[in-house]
Amino acid sequence: MSVIKIRDKQFKVSIPEAEIKTRIKALAAQISKDMEGKNPLFLGVLNGSFIFAADLMREMTIPCEVSFVKLASYQGTISTGKVQEVIGLNEDLTGRTVIIVEDIVDTGRTMKQMMESLGTRRPASLHICTLFVKPSKLEEPIDIDYAAFSIPDDFILGYGLDYDQAGRYLKDVYTIVESKENSMKNIVIFGAPGSGKGTQSDKMIEKYGLNHISTGDVLRSEIKKGTELGMTAKGFIDNGQLIPDDLMVSILASVYDSFGREHKGVIFDGFPRTIPQAEALKQMLNERGDSVAAMIELDVPEDELMKRLILRGQQSGRADDNEETIKKRLVVYHSQTQPLIEWYKKEGVHYHIDGLGELDRIFADICAVIDSI
Ligand code: IMP
Ligand code: MG
Repeated sequence: MSVIKIRDKQFKVSIPEAEIKTRIKALAAQISKDMEGKNPLFLGVLNGSFIFAADLMREMTIPCEVSFVKLASYQGTISTGKVQEVIGLNEDLTGRTVIIVEDIVDTGRTMKQMMESLGTRRPASLHICTLFVKPSKLEEPIDIDYAAFSIPDDFILGYGLDYDQAGRYLKDVYTIVESKENSMKNIVIFGAPGSGKGTQSDKMIEKYGLNHISTGDVLRSEIKKGTELGMTAKGFIDNGQLIPDDLMVSILASVYDSFGREHKGVIFDGFPRTIPQAEALKQMLNERGDSVAAMIELDVPEDELMKRLILRGQQSGRADDNEETIKKRLVVYHSQTQPLIEWYKKEGVHYHIDGLGELDRIFADICAVIDSI
């Protein structure tokens, strides 16, 4: 897909010229049929409608006229706020069939004001013909007689439509490339001990070129490097204390910043473990204009977790992988960590993955999530 840059934003073709022309032709045929014998006056709203109006005219098969108006915004009284006035109208509208030609109807405020303003000039009838309408954004109850395309609520340009005056000349219509295609994908990988976070993280890093922050690894490396943060952390650890959340977050922040501004995203593994930590992480990312795009929960039943951890204990000899301590760790997980699921659901970024079964199937499910964010 070819992406173009207009000012500070990226755009890609969403409706090719040929498709627009076809729709305009059909619209003109419809209007020609409906307005037969009425010599309609098309009133194009400048600047956006100039290309659409020109195309529409040339497809009309009945006699008609065309003129253009502009909308001038000025500040009214405090109660009326910003007011738009129709300027440049030279025609007498009395008894005429008038069709307003607009590029795009968004909230509908512009069209509502146009209808009110032109309505006072006694036309026989007043209609709206727009190239685009965003139905989900309509706030005003207006009747749109003719619309070539109903489109989703994404910013578009080209074919007369602009982004800050730029891009009107483009032949096709372009849609802004959503941040999901050009921004980083920060992911919290989440699940009980033994749920497969490490295994799946490795696969995600390899496939998507993501960075990985595991809090345990970070702490060990900061301490080893003897950084100031590492030394402070070591002080807490040596005293048998837990590292306070704010210290943990500043350590995470320094690692996060070390990836630069262009990274593809970071997998947070083992952090956050509590709601205050999740809030601190959110704030840290917000301060950088970033966010968590997905919290991926690997859901594995308790008895399976026990089996996996006991097996891991036997194979690795890890002292904390015996039945007693495993049970304790799972209790801590349920009481402190699991409430994060609800927290991330409220944030709208929680994704549940069935963590029981084939490794590849689980990874495929994770990929589907990553590809969708
Ligand atoms: P409304 O008053 O909210 O319906 O706004 C309509 C006007 O907003 C249009 O005439 C355009 O100038 C502008 N507009 C709304 N959406 C877009 C878009 O996606 N691209 C370019 N201009 C837009
Ligand atoms: Mg406009």
